[in-house]
Amino acid sequence: MSTSPRHFLDISALSKAEMRLLLDEAHRRKDARKGWPKGAPDADRPLDGCALAMIFQKNSTRTRISFEIGMRQLGGSSLVMSAADTQLGRGETVHDTARVVSRMVDAVMIRANDHQDVVDFAAASEVPVINGLTDLSHPCQILADIMTIEEWRGPIDGKTIAWLGDGNNVCMSFVHAAEKLPFTLRIATPPHYAPRRQEIEAAQKAGAQVRVVTDPQAAIAGADVVVTDTWVSMGDTDKDARLRAFPPYSVNEAIMQRAAPDAIFLHCLPAHRGEEVTDAVMDAPNSAVWDEAENRIHAQKAVLLWCLGRL
Ligand code: CP
Ligand code: NVA
Repeated sequence: MSTSPRHFLDISALSKAEMRLLLDEAHRRKDARKGWPKGAPDADRPLDGCALAMIFQKNSTRTRISFEIGMRQLGGSSLVMSAADTQLGRGETVHDTARVVSRMVDAVMIRANDHQDVVDFAAASEVPVINGLTDLSHPCQILADIMTIEEWRGPIDGKTIAWLGDGNNVCMSFVHAAEKLPFTLRIATPPHYAPRRQEIEAAQKAGAQVRVVTDPQAAIAGADVVVTDTWVSMGDTDKDARLRAFPPYSVNEAIMQRAAPDAIFLHCLPAHRGEEVTDAVMDAPNSAVWDEAENRIHAQKAVLLWCLGRL
């Protein structure tokens, strides 16, 4: 009897124990290879012989590199496809593509415009499918973010995270993480750009300590971590309206003064300096964005191991 593959589509689908397991594995593997050349395999090469395919419908720097180098460090190999260059770009269905690709590799990572495409791909795939960002969520990013917070400030338990700006895909994965870990999440967005109410209510029901407000000052007051993201995500078509709505949510030195004195700053990147964040905040000593970017590798390795039943 065949068992269904272990997909990583959203943090909300993990148990609390699985979330902790993934984070602990990411920390452990990072510590175990400190100072090694980045392309050198981990001592145990746990995915020796395994192959990962990556399909991108949108641009990427960090996600692509972290999965490619992460897979190499685990002893496996990877290949990258731009969706437009595949037969998907000429109308082959997601279902048929998933059937074929999953016969040829051991896992698939997809960055898609439409979340439903990733869900449909996973339903037809014989191997684990990983969400590498959709219009609705970015679960891989949030593992790296929580890992970074723990490196800089210790256990996530009891911390307050303030999200300022767009209630977008990255914000939504923070909401999902708040269901699994005991931190408080305060989200400040312009009224028309709040995360979907239904999802917030579901998260609150699942135990997340999450609150959505419109006042950025209220959200940031005393926060241990301040996070933002671009005001115009890939695929957004209302750029002008966004650029008018978001300036009060810009993370600058003045608003950072309202956070806890040792608050750290996070951004999934790419940043639009001078819009959602100023140079001064990006380049401040308490900006953890470069560690956050590096941690994508360590977090993605944990995801791959979990998906392939090695965790
Ligand atoms: N943060 C992130 O996912 O970056 P990329 O778009 O460069 O992959
Ligand atoms: N919210 C951004 C994240 C990029 C990593 C986007 O979807 O474009």
